[in-house]
Amino acid sequence: MCGIFAYLNYRVPKTRKDIFTTLVKGLQRLEYRGYDSAGVAVDGCGKVDTNSICLFKKKGKVKALDEELYKNDSIDLELELDTHFGIAHTRWATHGEPSAVNSHPQRSDKNNEFVVIHNGIITNYKELKKYLISKGYEFESETDTEVIPKLIKYLYDNRESNYVSFSTLVERVIQQLEGAFALVFKSIHFPGQAVATRRGSPLLIGVRSQYKLSTEQVPIQYNNSDTRIDVQSKNYINRVDSSNALHSVNDRMAVEFYFASDASAIIEHTNKVMYLEDDDIAAVADGKLSVHRMSRSAGEDPVRVIQTLQMELQQIMKGNFKAFMQKEIFEQPESVFNTMRGRICFDTNTVILGGLKDHLKEIKRCRRLIIIGCGTSFHAGVATRQILEELTELPVMVELASDFLDRTTPVYRDDVCFFISQSGETADTLMALRYCKDRGALTVGVTNTVGSSISRETDCGVHINAGPEIGVASTKAYTSQFVSLVMFGLMMSEDRLSLQKRREEIINGLSKLPELIKEVLALDDKIKCIADELYQEKSLLVMGRGYHYATCLEGALKVKEITYMHSEGILAGELKHGPLALIDYHMPVIMVIMRDACYTKCHNALQQVTARQGRPIILCCQDDPDISKMAYKTIELPHTVDCLQGILCVIPLQLMSFHLAVLRGYDVDFPRNLAKSVTVE
Ligand code: F6R
Repeated sequence: MCGIFAYLNYRVPKTRKDIFTTLVKGLQRLEYRGYDSAGVAVDGCGKVDTNSICLFKKKGKVKALDEELYKNDSIDLELELDTHFGIAHTRWATHGEPSAVNSHPQRSDKNNEFVVIHNGIITNYKELKKYLISKGYEFESETDTEVIPKLIKYLYDNRESNYVSFSTLVERVIQQLEGAFALVFKSIHFPGQAVATRRGSPLLIGVRSQYKLSTEQVPIQYNNSDTRIDVQSKNYINRVDSSNALHSVNDRMAVEFYFASDASAIIEHTNKVMYLEDDDIAAVADGKLSVHRMSRSAGEDPVRVIQTLQMELQQIMKGNFKAFMQKEIFEQPESVFNTMRGRICFDTNTVILGGLKDHLKEIKRCRRLIIIGCGTSFHAGVATRQILEELTELPVMVELASDFLDRTTPVYRDDVCFFISQSGETADTLMALRYCKDRGALTVGVTNTVGSSISRETDCGVHINAGPEIGVASTKAYTSQFVSLVMFGLMMSEDRLSLQKRREEIINGLSKLPELIKEVLALDDKIKCIADELYQEKSLLVMGRGYHYATCLEGALKVKEITYMHSEGILAGELKHGPLALIDYHMPVIMVIMRDACYTKCHNALQQVTARQGRPIILCCQDDPDISKMAYKTIELPHTVDCLQGILCVIPLQLMSFHLAVLRGYDVDFPRNLAKSVTVE
């Protein structure tokens, strides 16, 4: 729920202004993760004093912090620092209201001996706080995080010998912590050093050096000693000798390290990154990066891989669009194409999902499929359930992760459980995954984030390849999740003779989808005109059935999260069991009525609405005069196969919610109270 960014320049002279610029830019890239307050910690700000740590914290967006940094006369912005470590944080409040004192970095004491940035939640903070208070520590914030810098100072003050390394102290700290965290530490006792660790929250490290990396693997130090493995950029080789001694370092070696919650903050500096695993402790000292762990668990890889990211900066920029959300809506012809690219052979009607093919036999033997997710990702499961049941001939359950856990749902070894998540980090989904794994089910991840916790912890999976999604309201991830699940159904039914005609029809539909999405996007002006009429309303109902129940749920979620209007997705079959009471001349209603198996039933619902003076705006097929004459307004959409039609129908609702939010004057990419990646329960 928060964004972490830190920057260490080792023998790369930078002015303090350069350092601020790097830190602030990093935070701005992560602002979608949380944006109610922000802060940085850098070395002392006077002309010569680099033995102290300065904190700058500000309530509000990163822009407010940026302005604050340049207001302060005591800062020498032109001071050049050869080696320096700065940490920064953008917050989404969980404990304690948004305020400067509650924002991060949190500190150990008034001298800022240890400062920490944290993403996640410490569940045993009350016990730790009580203990530290009993030892004389005074707390200033309401955050759970504050126990961490206090605890490390306590351990430092009570260290057994004068030489204790920074990473050893951090290791001792995390042994005491319960909950989820990604943490980066800075201290006046360890100038120019950085220590980072994680458990349950994402964290990666980017490395930039003028030297070519000669290997892409970082061996892990398993013992608990203070020796470090040299992974300094030139010697990335890390020939670990039997004594684990340090390797020699070129004295003039210059290297920069970037620590971040996700790659979007790092990619403009370097594409060489290492993802930390739970309980890794990564330390940089004397320009050398090392990774420590307490002990090696069975089957664990003893190295961390330095990956080369393919993501380009322009992929994460807004371009000419007003908001990331709008850009992402318009990217859908391409993102949906990328989801299918290289996976469908349109000539032979075959689908191969590389991440699943080795497990296909096992999946085919299962007794049911369980699809688990939250919010929009859950809706992708609802949208594809019917076609998956048809193509796999298996019972399919679709579950909200939180409810699934609340019910302690029975799960068996012969179940296959799908975890749908754009970020791959959603805490509820991740916990449901661990729950299913513990019960022996085969777990499949469907995520948009390579290296995310869900993609790593599942047995196999599908990467939806939608590209980074920055807007908090999920749009292109939904359509790509949708397509991925349909492709899974197609892969499962390849040898079912009775289903070949249906498969051909769907594969043909998929091949035309990107072009049809472009046709839908061309309706944007018309949708904007309808939004002009609706934006001052308090409520908006979205009604449909069959394949479009999910469209309605998803459309209503988009409307409520970014426009703050009350909005409900209603199953048209339930109309007469309650929602009909809401219908009158004044209640805005959108209905989805496509030519599919539910057409006649939807027509009946339409009659019930118009009989109560309702004025429905109808998403319908082109050339449907029967519907048009009963509609207040229509949005006519191109026709595709019934099970894919939901992709075309959801897009006008995405556009509608975007225009409504803009007209109501809201910041589309930063809806109040919401964050992109929900890494707490
Ligand atoms: C809605 C939205 C959320 C997410 C949900 C799950 O627009 O973005 O409802 O879909 O928080 O997130 P992921 O897919 O990252 O697990």
